[in-house]
Amino acid sequence: MPVITEIEDLRKIYERRVPRMFYDYAETGSWSEQTFRDNSSDFDLIRLRQRVAVDMTNRSTASRMIGQDVAMPVALAPVGLTGMQCADGEIKAARAAEKFGVPFTLSTLSICSIEDVAEHTTKPFWFQVYTLKDDDFMRRLFDRARDAGCSAMVITLDLQVQGQRHKDLKNGLSAPPKLTVKSVANMMTKVQWGLGMLGTKRRFFGNVVGHAKGVTDPASLSSWTAEAFDHALDWDRVRELIRMWGGKVILKGILDAEDAKMAADAGADAIVVSNHGGRQLDGALSSIRMLPPIMDAVGDKIEVHLDSGIRSGQDVLKALALGAKGTMIGRAFVYGLGAMGEAGVTRALEVIHKELDTTMALCGERNVADLGRHNLLVPEDFTGRWA
Ligand code: GLV
Repeated sequence: MPVITEIEDLRKIYERRVPRMFYDYAETGSWSEQTFRDNSSDFDLIRLRQRVAVDMTNRSTASRMIGQDVAMPVALAPVGLTGMQCADGEIKAARAAEKFGVPFTLSTLSICSIEDVAEHTTKPFWFQVYTLKDDDFMRRLFDRARDAGCSAMVITLDLQVQGQRHKDLKNGLSAPPKLTVKSVANMMTKVQWGLGMLGTKRRFFGNVVGHAKGVTDPASLSSWTAEAFDHALDWDRVRELIRMWGGKVILKGILDAEDAKMAADAGADAIVVSNHGGRQLDGALSSIRMLPPIMDAVGDKIEVHLDSGIRSGQDVLKALALGAKGTMIGRAFVYGLGAMGEAGVTRALEVIHKELDTTMALCGERNVADLGRHNLLVPEDFTGRWA
């Protein structure tokens, strides 16, 4: 077992073990990838205030997200194709999350279906939907998520059209992967991954194939995704979807204070400040830079979470200290999954937890709920002067 001390260790193993096509799918941003890079590097601009001689006993990272107890305020984000990073990937990640005591979010574009994940886990998970044109299919997805006991609906608002990711187009990304000379040559070097895939029947988009009209075989799926997303989405439709679900709703993909106000007015339970991990609008500001103005606008009205760029427990701490009640990690857990399956996701969570806990102690705090602006040194012009 290699010694894993940081998320980057998992990324390196992941890169070796998973076919290039799926590594590239996760490890990409759109176009120039500027926003993808800024998401992480902007965390480094924020520094921490060291405090000493403060009682550090009985520290706790336990908290609550949308009223749910969590071992630390870090949920697993919805990530498409997770079951292609490792056989049965969504089930493995969901199990690791429930054992650790953090929420798992299943993507609509998962390989394992809602029912399959529910059958192989014991606690409710969150389900994510894109806004789709096909109202019947959306209603059925909501019903299926309800029947599976999902405790929150995460509605993605920043993917009505897809940001272009050069690598996916060049790799001909699909699930299951297209067999070309290049992809087969690459897959043959990923023995562990290949054996896992040969041993599972879960190789298609489990929530979609056989459920969405006109999608009976995987070959027609890429055209379905291109055509299915609702270009006409507006706030009336968002309110309708919130009513349609009738339970807890998290609106994901908010990066602007005006949109945050609209989301709070629409009656959601939480928002996720997010630019989709830099995969949508390249050139947008990083999530962590946009957090302070969004907190100013709606911090007292709605619970605010943040994703995009988190690779350590220190990043989590910085988001919490700037006011977020919770965070989401995507790539950080996918690296673990691709590297070592369920044990790798657990390791990713352990690494982040340890970094969060130790940093909290060195900042003189014993409880995540007490973290605040007083723990940080933030450049005066952090959000920037943008005209
Ligand atoms: C899907 O949401 C993606 O970013 O690929």
